[in-house]
Amino acid sequence: MTESPYLVGLRLAGKKVVVVGGGSVAQRRLPLLISSGADVHVISRSATRAVEAMDGITLSLREYRDGDLEGAWYALAATDDAQVNATVVAEADRRQIFCVRADSAVEGSAVTPATFSYAGLAVGVLAGGEHRRSAAIRSAIREALQRGVITLESPECSDVVRGGVALVGGGPGDPELITVRGRRLLAQADVVIADRLAPPELLAELPPHVEVIDAAKIPYGRAMAQDAIHAAMIEQAKSGKFVVRLKGGDPFVFARGYEEVLACAEAGIPVTVVPGVTSAIAVPASAGVPVTHRATNHEFVVVSGHLPPGHPESLVNWNALAALSGTIVLLMAVERIELFVDALLKGGRPAETPVLVVQHGTTPAQHTLRATLADTPEKVRAEGIRPPAIVVIGAVAGFGGVRGLNNS
Ligand SMILES: C[S@@+](CC[C@H](N)C(=O)[O-])C[C@H]1O[C@@H](n2cnc3c(N)ncnc32)[C@H](O)[C@@H]1O
Repeated sequence: MTESPYLVGLRLAGKKVVVVGGGSVAQRRLPLLISSGADVHVISRSATRAVEAMDGITLSLREYRDGDLEGAWYALAATDDAQVNATVVAEADRRQIFCVRADSAVEGSAVTPATFSYAGLAVGVLAGGEHRRSAAIRSAIREALQRGVITLESPECSDVVRGGVALVGGGPGDPELITVRGRRLLAQADVVIADRLAPPELLAELPPHVEVIDAAKIPYGRAMAQDAIHAAMIEQAKSGKFVVRLKGGDPFVFARGYEEVLACAEAGIPVTVVPGVTSAIAVPASAGVPVTHRATNHEFVVVSGHLPPGHPESLVNWNALAALSGTIVLLMAVERIELFVDALLKGGRPAETPVLVVQHGTTPAQHTLRATLADTPEKVRAEGIRPPAIVVIGAVAGFGGVRGLNNS
């Protein structure tokens, strides 16, 4: 029976660490060694391109030879040759240097745990050399932290500010498309003020003590709604709570997020923004359409359709847009689609330009429509497409049909 290993954290800054081997195993281990500040020496007959390109290592492309561990504090035998690995471990033992043997955990004097860092914590898991098991448990712990199943009460372990606000991008609809940081902060919220387009599944998984305020239902007239949201955020934060303002997509893309930042700042409330995956890019992608493609377009423009062309408050130059050959992504545009199509046609965008319309993108209700610029309004009406929907105009909108992409 092998004795259980003693789990320890090594402070390696400035200390010599020798990695023998430059293949995929070394490639996976090196980044953490480098970020620990160790003086990393890699000795390998050959190295992957990624290892060759790594900053912060000294790479010697040659065979390992006895004596290479001289002066090292820690070593890793990670070649694909069991004999060489055994020889490295033997030299390490002779010199009393702890050494991991990547191909056989039990034969080294040290083992690498499956690790992750989270909000100032370093978590490591060992499972008696069963790498898959330790990796699976590591991932489960990380997920539990991200979902708030395990909470961090200690303030120094958390970037949550009680009495502060985090503006979090919830992504385009699929609850898995929120960022890791966004999900972590959401799991620690006392109050969540959610937009209509914030993924509802994310709210469903919040613990019962969390107060959820539906921003769409704050009782004020339309014009006052934004002020009322500011007031709610500020009032809740001032009472010492950690407020997450959860928005659809990215908080700074047609979402009035910066107004909310300014309102918090003016009220002296600490505020942080967590970017999100914007529907402008993710929704076309979920329908199999890239917003850019090499040699097809060198620009894509994201345009709000909340005002019609020619409206005195409109800041969009529709003639300039019509003159572009690249991709136009229209948000909030289906209700007035006739007016936008008309402006683009009048400005010279060809009638046969491909168009993709996606409603409820990235959700189980996703519905897509393909058209040309000229027949888009008719098709949008015929299919009864209503907001939220994205309209993609340009050559890329004609792409799609790659078998197997997004399980198609
Ligand atoms: C007020 S804007 C907010 C955009 C958001 N901040 C973002 O970055 O995605 C709302 C518009 O985004 C688009 N949108 C957001 N989520 C969508 C989805 N899942 N499917 C299609 N369009 C979506 C629609 O055009 C909708 O009217």
